[in-house]
Amino acid sequence: MGDPAWAPSSVDLRTPNVARMYDYYLGGKDNLAPDRAAAEKALEIAPEIRLAARQNRAFLGRSVRYLAEAGVRQFLDVGTGLPTQSNVHEVAHNAAPDARVVYVDNDPVVLAHGRAILGGAKHVHIVQADLRRPEEVLDSPEVRARLDFERPIAILLVAIVHFLKDTDGPEEIVARFREVLPAGGYLVLSHVCGDALPRSVPGVTEVYKHSSTPIVARSPDRIADFFSGLELIDPGVVNVAQWRPDSAESKRIAEKYQRPYFLAGVGRKM
Ligand SMILES: C[S@@+](CC[C@H](N)C(=O)[O-])C[C@H]1O[C@@H](n2cnc3c(N)ncnc32)[C@H](O)[C@@H]1O
Repeated sequence: MGDPAWAPSSVDLRTPNVARMYDYYLGGKDNLAPDRAAAEKALEIAPEIRLAARQNRAFLGRSVRYLAEAGVRQFLDVGTGLPTQSNVHEVAHNAAPDARVVYVDNDPVVLAHGRAILGGAKHVHIVQADLRRPEEVLDSPEVRARLDFERPIAILLVAIVHFLKDTDGPEEIVARFREVLPAGGYLVLSHVCGDALPRSVPGVTEVYKHSSTPIVARSPDRIADFFSGLELIDPGVVNVAQWRPDSAESKRIAEKYQRPYFLAGVGRKM
């Protein structure tokens, strides 16, 4: 297969890319042979990754629906990923057609594809910025123009903070996003947790070392600390599958898969 038409010509498509590997786990079509080969290597070591990725995506949908139903009309989604089913703006607009969504990613392929697919959607904007430089996200003219940080807003850091190395200062970076939340604003965060699969972590980490972005699994305590100072929405920081399952299928999965491959929570600023 040749390079896809949506990919900018300057982009390296030979290195496995974390957004496209995730797309592969989800069953998407926007991935290339190097992405699939790396994803298959990771799945060989930890077959649970596929279910974990899907449950993470389902958590994202449930949390956005919960917040839209609670009256939130602004969403800043950092680490958007490739467009797939139930994108944040689609879920938010189902509950609140006037909700504004700003997507942020640092990957030019994600941005190009996102703009091609989401560009026309109402109240949706896409920005290129890097989570490692919070001010680049927060001071982006698009973010400033579209979102009002004086009014209830949700900041989504879903399946992205594990792409920050310890030397990037993940605690300080997430703290900066908590700081800009107004009272009544929310932080939604999910993160890969190594504790359920201690023997698989080194192998999977090694696969990601050869991808666009290395991955860092963190402990439940470190993940819970990302919500420091926020009031946690019930049931707290839990396995993604167990965060407010709302259908017969998600309840069945929550019952069956108790191991925390991905931990997630929603915190509210008081
Ligand atoms: C696994 S996907 C998550 C997609 C979506 N949030 C979800 O949970 O379904 C992670 C995304 O984070 C983006 N990403 C990784 N590091 C980033 C950074 N430093 N700044 C901005 N985006 C980043 C990747 O390009 C990718 O699109």
